[in-house]
Amino acid sequence: MKLLRKGAEAELYLTEFENKGALLKKRVPKNYRNKELDDEIRKSRTRLESRFLAKARKLGVATPQVYDTDLEEHSILMEFISGTRVKDALTKKNFETICTDIGEDIARLHAYDLVHGDLTTSNILIHNGRLTFIDFGLGSNSKKIEDKAVDLLVFKKTFEATHADLMPAGWEKIIAGYSAKAKDAEAIVKQIEKIEKRARYH
Ligand SMILES: Nc1ncnc2c1ncn2[C@@H]1O[C@H](COP(=O)(O)OP(=O)(O)O)[C@@H](O)[C@H]1O
Ligand SMILES: [Mg+2]
Repeated sequence: MKLLRKGAEAELYLTEFENKGALLKKRVPKNYRNKELDDEIRKSRTRLESRFLAKARKLGVATPQVYDTDLEEHSILMEFISGTRVKDALTKKNFETICTDIGEDIARLHAYDLVHGDLTTSNILIHNGRLTFIDFGLGSNSKKIEDKAVDLLVFKKTFEATHADLMPAGWEKIIAGYSAKAKDAEAIVKQIEKIEKRARYH
């Protein structure tokens, strides 16, 4: 197995499954955490990630197919997606369509009460204009307007920092795509503004 990338929490290995390219995501121990607690956290995130990768896919948002989940090994074997991270692909020329599509996909997740929990342009891959969402280990099920607003606000913060050159138009496209598809879009967007105001006064 070839080590592809060492993330903050996990090691990603390139491997094969039934003669197809596959990716093994293995959550590694964090030594600053108590051993048993660390084991529980890694198990729980692996379980959530596997569950939400499958759920998102079912509701029409592309994710890698999960081939196997091994809780004892804290690992998930999944389809390898060729392509690049949206983080590395976004430019002034192409951002409009991509950002609109991202907003629409997040609306689809939220419509089924799936809150991603770690939306960033590193956690969305792109291949031939098609988006694939990954890294659902902090995902949750929630109907709450507040939780969906926070999901978007966390994304906005990292988007602003990573794609300063595309602000504010890029974020506006994401919200436009989101608003066109989300069921409580108006309330959620209002809630984002409320949280931002609250943050400014503290
Ligand atoms: N299924 C996949 N196919 C191709 N590349 C992937 C896949 N899953 C992850 N990657 C690559 O590995 C990186 C880290 O994976 P990710 O699941 O986001 O782990 P982390 O929790 O460390 O952020 C991604 O940004 C992407 O570049
Ligand atoms: Mg990630």
